[in-house]
Amino acid sequence: METLQHSIKIQRTQHSKLSTVDFNHLEFGKHISDHMLVVDYAEGKWGQPYIMPYGDMTLSPAMLALHYGQAIFEGMKAYKTTSGNITVFRLKRHHERMNRSLDRMCMPPIPYELFEQSLRALIEVDRSWIPSTEGSSLYIRPVVFATEARLGVKISDHYKFVIMTSPVGPYYSKPLRVKVEETYVRAAEGGAGFAKCAGNYGVSFYPTHMARKEGFDQVLWTDAKEHKFIDEAGTMNVMFVIDGKLVTPKLTTAILDGITRDSILTLAKDMNLTVEERKVSIDELIMAHQKGLLTEAFGAGTAAIVAPIAIINIHGHDYTLPPTTEGSIQQLIKGKLSNMRMGLEADIHQWNYTIH
Ligand code: COI
Repeated sequence: METLQHSIKIQRTQHSKLSTVDFNHLEFGKHISDHMLVVDYAEGKWGQPYIMPYGDMTLSPAMLALHYGQAIFEGMKAYKTTSGNITVFRLKRHHERMNRSLDRMCMPPIPYELFEQSLRALIEVDRSWIPSTEGSSLYIRPVVFATEARLGVKISDHYKFVIMTSPVGPYYSKPLRVKVEETYVRAAEGGAGFAKCAGNYGVSFYPTHMARKEGFDQVLWTDAKEHKFIDEAGTMNVMFVIDGKLVTPKLTTAILDGITRDSILTLAKDMNLTVEERKVSIDELIMAHQKGLLTEAFGAGTAAIVAPIAIINIHGHDYTLPPTTEGSIQQLIKGKLSNMRMGLEADIHQWNYTIH
């Protein structure tokens, strides 16, 4: 029986850009691989996927995604393991999250078979774009957006599902200086903060831009009601080590259900660390820092992986954290995660989806 993957039409590029990439110095998202996968949705169903050279598309300026924001995306990674296999990390969970985002934005779900087979086919075509340098991977960016050309405020009847990939290193190259945001809001409970919709990122640009002007790399968002509790960092979830325990904000509808977040919590439990998912107040962080109990803070995300935080600025005051060492909890977990992805440690949770 012919699988969906084998029926995908492939138009290969005549002008590969692979030789222009310096795989030893990969800037996040700078290079997009040679091909992209495209699927159109019309008349209530997803059509046949096809692969074509990555490049510009003709789209209407009246398309609904541009006006009313029906646009969601995912971020995943593919690795070349030490035994030469190609794997994708937690494919199923990314698919589930993508469908939750689609549902929140009144967009049609992507069937698992379509997601899986499309991705497989695309990665096979651009397999030579997967870096093998340490800490690098092929970042996979599926995006779905409303393409119906209409000015009326309505749920679109037409969509495009596109997958593109990009060879990447870590998103952040140095420990971060973050500002706890107490004026602006990324998402309120009951909103769409848990979804990976484009608007969540656009809305964070202005406060982040202001924080950058003050010398910060990123903001730590707080709850929309009281600005008392930490939510997340926009490009990643956030975790703390307080009194030897790994502590992270409990998920709400305002926080992205990070897959790296979940992986780290699972690995920490495997390592017999105490893990607490609960509200984390700004006051608790200040107090724990004063007592010397706040020993680590870091971001966790697909792009960011594990991103050490060096300084947390609260109410205009810098709280400096001890430098990260090889024995830091974040380094131990990061090492375990990397070993699992690269096939150096048993994949006991069956997180690696093998392409071949
Ligand atoms: C990811 O970690 O995949 C993200 O989507 C965060 C950011 C690069 C937008």
